Amino acid sequence: MKASHTLVSLLGIGFVLMSGSAFAAVHVDRSAFGVLPDGRPVEKYTLHNSNGMRVGIITYGGIVQSIEVPDARGVVDDVVLGFDDIQEYLDNGNVYFGAIIGRFGNRIKQGRFELEGKAYQVPVNNGPNSLHGGPEGFNTKLWQAKPIEGKDWKGVSLNYVSVDGEMGFPGTLTTTVRYTLNEQNELQIEYTAHTDKPTVVNLTNHSYFNLAGAGNGTIKDQKITIHASHVTPVDAELIPTGTLAPVADTPMDFLHPTAIGKYLGSKSEQLMFAEPKAGGFDFNWVFDRSGQLDAVAVTAFDPASGRRLEMYTTEPGVQFYTGNFLDGSIKGKQGKVYPHWGAFTLEAQHFPDAPNQPSFPSTRLNPGETYKQTTIYKFSTLKG
Ligand code: BGC
Repeated sequence: MKASHTLVSLLGIGFVLMSGSAFAAVHVDRSAFGVLPDGRPVEKYTLHNSNGMRVGIITYGGIVQSIEVPDARGVVDDVVLGFDDIQEYLDNGNVYFGAIIGRFGNRIKQGRFELEGKAYQVPVNNGPNSLHGGPEGFNTKLWQAKPIEGKDWKGVSLNYVSVDGEMGFPGTLTTTVRYTLNEQNELQIEYTAHTDKPTVVNLTNHSYFNLAGAGNGTIKDQKITIHASHVTPVDAELIPTGTLAPVADTPMDFLHPTAIGKYLGSKSEQLMFAEPKAGGFDFNWVFDRSGQLDAVAVTAFDPASGRRLEMYTTEPGVQFYTGNFLDGSIKGKQGKVYPHWGAFTLEAQHFPDAPNQPSFPSTRLNPGETYKQTTIYKFSTLKG
């Protein structure tokens, strides 16, 4: 009698402790995800929470390989584009599905910039320009991983040391990217980096979202709100002109919830630069408020499934890109075909070509300083 009474009390205390903290609710599994051609094994870390959300991260490219989330009726689907097999990531590197982008997200004009009076030339891999850190950017690296946990979250920490001169950039850059999940369905990505010489850094993540589920049609009916009154307009090679242009009365006005398809295919000059012939989105929006993780920066919503994605970020801008080059030729996870405009990216970032644009927020990192960016992708549901 006494013993069972004690047991009941202990269970009671245990229940209070567990309900007071979500500590035990998120967990992390580790599994094999194939082998690189040089024999190095790739691992997958899967973060689960008790709401049925699961996020798969692979150590190659720090790639977000899957994000499974329930819809408004509780039906779980995977809302990011990707592959089941490491070889498919190697064969389709130029789409950057889910990858960490570094050392420099988006374009650097002709791969050239100057630092302290010294000219640097980094490899060009996008017409005459450098894109996403060059042909062997961070998306192609094997990252050192370890599980991490805090009071109400768990995750994986990835580390990569890029040696002085790698892909043409000065300084040895030591980078850590922490992916964590909590019970609020927030996938947080926190990037830190240090250098031993002045350099430029612009890190981001290149996940392609389709809130109806990857491979379930286009994103045209999904609505997006971007809290940005300006964009950085571009030339025909998608290099910023250096000015900020108001979005008012243009197809880039997403200040209020707007179906992505409303202006996709519009023949405005900017959309035709981004996607000749069809007219797509591939621009940097400049947030009205920047550097604040407590204010929502972007909201995307799929009326059919009720899935909502909110992005919070410390970054001043976001590259909103609509998968313009997807043409149905890529088969992704479970053999699903990814159609034209079958996903969108929300790449939180400093502005493209910032090293050559003195009026843009600086991307310079000096020895002794810490580069830091944090972005949260939060999932929830709403009725349509
Ligand atoms: C760029 C696009 C590019 C795509 C590659 C985006 O961040 O802005 O121009 O085609 O990445 O996947």
